[in-house]
Amino acid sequence: MIHYDFDGKVAVVTGAAGGIGRATARRLAAAGARVVVADLDLDQAEETVKLIAGDGGDAAAVRVDVAESASVKAMVDFTVRRYGGLDYAHNNAGIVGAGANIADMPDEVWERGIAVMLSGVFYGMKHEIPAILARGGGAIVNTSSGAGLIGFPGMGNYVAAKHGVIGLTRTAALEYITQGIRINAICPGTARSRMVDDWMRGSAEAEAQVAALHPIGRIAEADEIAEAVLWLLSGAASFVVGAALPVDGGYTI
Ligand code: NAI
Repeated sequence: MIHYDFDGKVAVVTGAAGGIGRATARRLAAAGARVVVADLDLDQAEETVKLIAGDGGDAAAVRVDVAESASVKAMVDFTVRRYGGLDYAHNNAGIVGAGANIADMPDEVWERGIAVMLSGVFYGMKHEIPAILARGGGAIVNTSSGAGLIGFPGMGNYVAAKHGVIGLTRTAALEYITQGIRINAICPGTARSRMVDDWMRGSAEAEAQVAALHPIGRIAEADEIAEAVLWLLSGAASFVVGAALPVDGGYTI
């Protein structure tokens, strides 16, 4: 594990009560950042804060619904009030895909997937960018998915939102790179998290089937995804702009 230096910096992570977001928030805090742990699930967000405090880091929890612009603005305002500014963001909150083919997908399931995973990233960047510009620049990583690069039957809302995240990331990268904000996306393969645990329900057989879809022969630990997020946010990725980085054990190759 590489040690990055985020000393004196401020970061916000959405979906930070869950697997990938919690791992990113902990890694950022361990690297010296003060971290706002933002999630719809405030209880679990507080758990993330406790884990960070136990590691000796500085973090604060805030409840956010990323599907609501005003809620996301309040998250950024909270961050600036609490820590004096914002340098880095990981827009990562997500929900599971539909589990229904298009003709059978209820409109509200379609709409919620787009609202959380595509509008959520839009509202995130919309409200984070002015705060990051006020500090003279920084970096953003948006969580797409392997499902942002290829199709998956039964997950039309998820796939459309995650493809959309890549287009939005590229556009934002073009709009803000000259002002000092590097914006990229990650495209994880299956990683151990609350979402994936719920979906597999502890079945070793289900995990083996999913693992076999990845050429590497296993699913990821959430930390392996967080490592890529830290790299993209850090100065080590100083020439990486608008990328959609697969971190997927070969799933999409
Ligand atoms: P998770 O379920 O452990 O974490 C997701 C978090 O997002 C949860 O804490 C949940 O409360 C939060 N959330 C849901 N709706 C929200 C909303 N409206 N506002 C604020 N927070 C909300 O899942 P995981 O796996 O850590 O997912 C993180 C991201 O990674 C998601 O965007 C997911 O689509 C993406 N991803 C996950 C993969 C995996 O295999 N774990 C693979 C590819 C992408």
